[in-house]
Amino acid sequence: MSRTSLRRIGILTGGGDCPGLNAVIRAVAKTAMFQYKLEVFGIEDGFLGLIENRIHPLSVDDVSNILTRGGTILGTSNRANPARFAVGKDADGNPIFEDVTPRVLQHAREHGLDAIICIGGDGTMTGAAGLAAHGLRFVGVPKTIDNDLMGTDITFGFQTAVSIATEALDRIHTTASSHHRVMLVEIMGRNAGWLTLHSGLASGADVILIPEIPYDLAKVGAACVARSKRGKAFTIIAVSEGARPVGGKQVIQKIVKDSPDPVRLGGISQVLAEQIEQEFGLECRATILGHVQRGGTPVAFDRVLATLFGHKALELALAGEFNQLVVMQSGRITSVPFETVAGKQRLVPVDHPLIEAARGVGTSFGDE
Ligand code: F6P
Repeated sequence: MSRTSLRRIGILTGGGDCPGLNAVIRAVAKTAMFQYKLEVFGIEDGFLGLIENRIHPLSVDDVSNILTRGGTILGTSNRANPARFAVGKDADGNPIFEDVTPRVLQHAREHGLDAIICIGGDGTMTGAAGLAAHGLRFVGVPKTIDNDLMGTDITFGFQTAVSIATEALDRIHTTASSHHRVMLVEIMGRNAGWLTLHSGLASGADVILIPEIPYDLAKVGAACVARSKRGKAFTIIAVSEGARPVGGKQVIQKIVKDSPDPVRLGGISQVLAEQIEQEFGLECRATILGHVQRGGTPVAFDRVLATLFGHKALELALAGEFNQLVVMQSGRITSVPFETVAGKQRLVPVDHPLIEAARGVGTSFGDE
């Protein structure tokens, strides 16, 4: 495909919001407008905008002054897979799903979208891959604070979330040491422990519990007691929302029935706090950081990465290389086909150098 055959592109953001989304939108839209004289259309609320025909032209003004802004000016949704879209509820309150792909194709045609840059996580890329099979042309940009997308060494938003979680852990120290308590801080990340590992290491957490290394309560308690014996009358535990005991299950906060990924984790820190108090007689408090980890302005690293990703996405679209996901591999911005990453999670290898380094400074993972 030659560069001139693209006239109009769409942009959408899908899945959970993440610091840096607006930086990608800005990079794609401004480069498309300034350098290639393309028309750019914003699709509201991810695939929902394609399903409901909420698609509008973007001007330079629309994408100015958004580099430092968190969230997404386009809005997002993590409940809108066109191939399995909840159109109502049955008598038991369960969602009724329908394939609304024809609606999406019609709306994309109506607006003359030659290609769509979709910024999202695994769910968004799976949705895009499904629509691509019907002829729509996508380029994907990976986002998630969880940093768990296969094929890329890092996603934008992750470093911002690490900074927020690290600052929270640092601040928890004050109360932990003043009150001689065990303080548990629960960190997002779904089934991947990257966020907890990085922020736990950065803040010098005494215990780090991640989904990839199931913990033994007795070992976690022993680590807290051992600290008391060494004269450290407090312990900081950084715990992933997806952490679980050996042979046990993750703590589920809620099931979002009409979401492509319905499980929402949360609450493990409170469960552990109770158990440590009861079993070891140590006073505990739990703090769940929650969505504060996704909020606010992106750190400089994420703004830079998001800009590079957005630029590359447009280059790929202009080169006719569709159904590719922009990635960073060994410091290089490149791309991989959707199908090589769809449905896969990049988890922390248990022999990762960060784990070895943490163990080296005496951090317990609750397993030995
Ligand atoms: O994937 C990003 C993430 O923030 C996870 O870390 C967390 O488990 C989940 O999204 C929360 O989802 P929601 O915003 O739907 O509650």
